[in-house]
Amino acid sequence: MRCSILAFAGGLAAQSLQLAAGQSAQFLSSNPGGAIPAMVQAPSTSGFMQSTIQPSRGGLSVCVSGIVPVQVSTAMNMAFNFSVPDNQTGVTQTFLSMISSASPFVQQLMAGTQSVNGTYNIGGTLCTPANNTTPKTVEILTHGIGFDRLATQRLSHLPKFSFAVDLTIRSFFYDRLGVGQSSKPDALTIQSPLELEILQSLITKLKNGTLSNITPTTIVGTGHSYGSSLVQGITSKYPSSLNTAILTGFSVNSTGSSAFVAALNLAIASQNQPLRFSGLSNGYLVSSTSISNQLAFLHAQNFDPNVLSLAEATKGSVTFGELFTLSAVVAPAANFTGSVAVVNGDSDLPFCTGNCSYPTNLAQAAITMLYPKTNVTGTYVAPLTGHGINFHYSAVAAYHYIQDFIAKGTSSNSTST
Ligand SMILES: *[C@@H]1O[C@H](CO)[C@@H](O)[C@H](O)[C@H]1NC(C)=O
Ligand SMILES: *[C@@H]1O[C@H](CO)[C@@H](O)[C@H](O)[C@H]1NC(C)=O
Ligand SMILES: *[C@@H]1O[C@H](CO)[C@@H](O)[C@H](O)[C@H]1NC(C)=O
Ligand SMILES: *[C@@H]1O[C@H](CO)[C@@H](O)[C@H](O)[C@H]1NC(C)=O
Ligand SMILES: *[C@@H]1O[C@H](CO)[C@@H](O)[C@H](O)[C@H]1NC(C)=O
Ligand SMILES: *[C@@H]1O[C@H](CO)[C@@H](O)[C@H](O)[C@H]1NC(C)=O
Ligand SMILES: *[C@@H]1O[C@H](CO)[C@@H](O)[C@H](O)[C@H]1NC(C)=O
Ligand SMILES: *[C@@H]1O[C@H](CO)[C@@H](O)[C@H](O)[C@H]1NC(C)=O
Ligand SMILES: *[C@@H]1O[C@H](CO)[C@@H](O)[C@H](O)[C@H]1NC(C)=O
Ligand SMILES: *[C@@H]1O[C@H](CO)[C@@H](O)[C@H](O)[C@H]1NC(C)=O
Repeated sequence: MRCSILAFAGGLAAQSLQLAAGQSAQFLSSNPGGAIPAMVQAPSTSGFMQSTIQPSRGGLSVCVSGIVPVQVSTAMNMAFNFSVPDNQTGVTQTFLSMISSASPFVQQLMAGTQSVNGTYNIGGTLCTPANNTTPKTVEILTHGIGFDRLATQRLSHLPKFSFAVDLTIRSFFYDRLGVGQSSKPDALTIQSPLELEILQSLITKLKNGTLSNITPTTIVGTGHSYGSSLVQGITSKYPSSLNTAILTGFSVNSTGSSAFVAALNLAIASQNQPLRFSGLSNGYLVSSTSISNQLAFLHAQNFDPNVLSLAEATKGSVTFGELFTLSAVVAPAANFTGSVAVVNGDSDLPFCTGNCSYPTNLAQAAITMLYPKTNVTGTYVAPLTGHGINFHYSAVAAYHYIQDFIAKGTSSNSTST
């Protein structure tokens, strides 16, 4: 196991160099040659603009990638009493003001709600097992802050297996608004209420055959961190949308969020990474350094240092609009009757202040508070693992737990040893 991880790390370093040279990670990293295996039927490109077809890394799935236009509106975006700062000094002071106790900044920030509508381009990838089967389950994955849709593939320790490309079901993963190949509108407009409607629209398109002509019977919504908050918001606002919700890096305890915001040490993206983010306004931010990323996402020694380097080289942006509305869509899902699992690293910083079993099992507490009518629930706590579960060696066992939960759809409580 160790051996293959180390061998794999060489590939990561090479990719990291390519990215440092300004080449964006537009496509899935794939087999050398990148060809679809003979006799394997390629997925339909229907519903995708600028579509391309590739195997997943390791070749066990075949994928269509491209741009999916979504037309959405919300009356629930926030209006802010805030202008994007002119410079880094102002950005840094904003976060100091935000995390200060009894902060007047936070009290004065919210200025009611604002309606937003638009058509946005969303970068997405749909993968299906590379053996001409047509699984009836599709999993839609929503990434968190600091990453993009391909981070899980790129940063997984597992050359032939990843969270994002399950072997027995279809998976659709997409760049959230403002990230990767997706549209980059005004940074204050990119907020959780708008992103929730984008996720709902993508789910509808997956269900009604718009994307790749598939007609799944079961939809699983999986998120990480802020992505989990959006998935949770779907189960509350649109309770019949998903059959199963998998919330990773998630709880209802926000005590650690200040430490997380401070740990990220947010920098203006266009200044911190000019080769990747020139042209974006000062409202688009990134974590400063790999030290910020370790603080926010990782638990030593349970990760490969090369993964941290690559996470830094490929880090994704976040906006003020998102940081001001992080949990605005999270609400009890009294009408959700599907199954739900919460999967955390035991040392998660933002959602557990570094200890997910203090003062109680915070994964179970989230289910108890948010899912009063859900009978089929599960929790899993990965050992010696930070917020970025995917980037630790322990991700393997967490993936297995998630796959079993999806497959069985049955109740299970599990804490690994
Ligand atoms: C940053 O912007 C503020 C407000 O525009 C200005 O007063 C200040 O001088 C600027 N600081 C630097 C270091 O440029
Ligand atoms: C808006 O914020 C400024 C500080 O930046 C504050 O002086 C002003 O009172 C706020 N306005 C409202 C309506 O809260
Ligand atoms: C969309 O927003 C514009 C303002 O940006 C507004 O004029 C228009 O009525 C809105 N349309 C819908 C369908 O909400
Ligand atoms: C297709 O591949 C998946 C994953 O390896 C496997 O579970 C399934 O049984 C395969 N189906 C066929 C018909 O080979
Ligand atoms: C599928 O859902 C999308 C998003 O709501 C919608 O725009 C589209 O018209 C629907 N297509 C069909 C065939 O129902
Ligand atoms: C949230 O976490 C903090 C820090 O661990 C703890 O002090 C607090 O009691 C927790 N709140 C709840 C409701 O669990
Ligand atoms: C659940 O559904 C009922 C009936 O449609 C509705 O009145 C209620 O507001 C819903 N509850 C939530 C939390 O959405
Ligand atoms: C959940 O359990 C309750 C009590 O056992 C039962 O009445 C309800 O029908 C169950 N709901 C679902 C969705 O299975
Ligand atoms: C987490 O909190 C529990 C008490 O709930 C404590 O026993 C345990 O040592 C803590 N773990 C760490 C790593 O601090
Ligand atoms: C899971 O744990 C919760 C809280 O400890 C408990 O209420 C629930 O009954 C457990 N479910 C199963 C299937 O053991």
